[in-house]
Amino acid sequence: MFRATILTLYPEMFPGPLGLSLSGDALARGLWGLETRNIRDHGLGRHRAVDDTPAGGGPGMVIRADVLAAAVDAIAQTEDVRPRLLMSPRGRPLTQKRVRRLAEGPGVIIVCGRFEGVDERVIAARGLEEVSIGDYVLSGGEIAAIVTIDACVRLIPGVMGKNASGEEESFESGLLEYPHYTRPREWEGQSIPDILLSGDHAKIARWRHEEALRLTRERRPDLLDK
Ligand code: ADE
Repeated sequence: MFRATILTLYPEMFPGPLGLSLSGDALARGLWGLETRNIRDHGLGRHRAVDDTPAGGGPGMVIRADVLAAAVDAIAQTEDVRPRLLMSPRGRPLTQKRVRRLAEGPGVIIVCGRFEGVDERVIAARGLEEVSIGDYVLSGGEIAAIVTIDACVRLIPGVMGKNASGEEESFESGLLEYPHYTRPREWEGQSIPDILLSGDHAKIARWRHEEALRLTRERRPDLLDK
């Protein structure tokens, strides 16, 4: 079973949206597992301190290497082969390809950063793979962890039902998805493209592919270069 273990200073943020809808139903059905650990349980002193001022000066606070390493060591035994991700705007961008590989595996351990970051020494020492969900800065890694897990969970066999693993979706084909329509046939003066009502499935497939190409060219030409 795919198991996600989250190291965070805000365990109350979980399951959050992962407890609802597709991922929540799958969680209730036991198709995947979620566990949170509070990094503060490994904090130091009476105040359970987890962070300190950056060496060399500057703004913000940095999560201590010793504290975070103790939190990682408390969950990750040597036989635990799950990838260890550190959510960070500095990481490699998350892609559908990486999501697919994660979803096929035993799960993930995800460290959620806060403050200015984490002490650099702990990243290599505990084999943390830095992952970003996009070129913008969130106030912490928790929402990025939720995004990552959501993307994985929907690919777990049995989670999405009959629509298998959404092979026609955006990115799975390398293209953005074609436009969708449903009833009513006429709405605010706009009709559904005639071809979709023609019953000619070969023509419909061709039209959808052309629309997918057109949208990708307009919005994400970088995807066509790949
Ligand atoms: N933490 C803060 N910003 C982030 C981002 N863009 N991706 C992943 N983790 C983050």
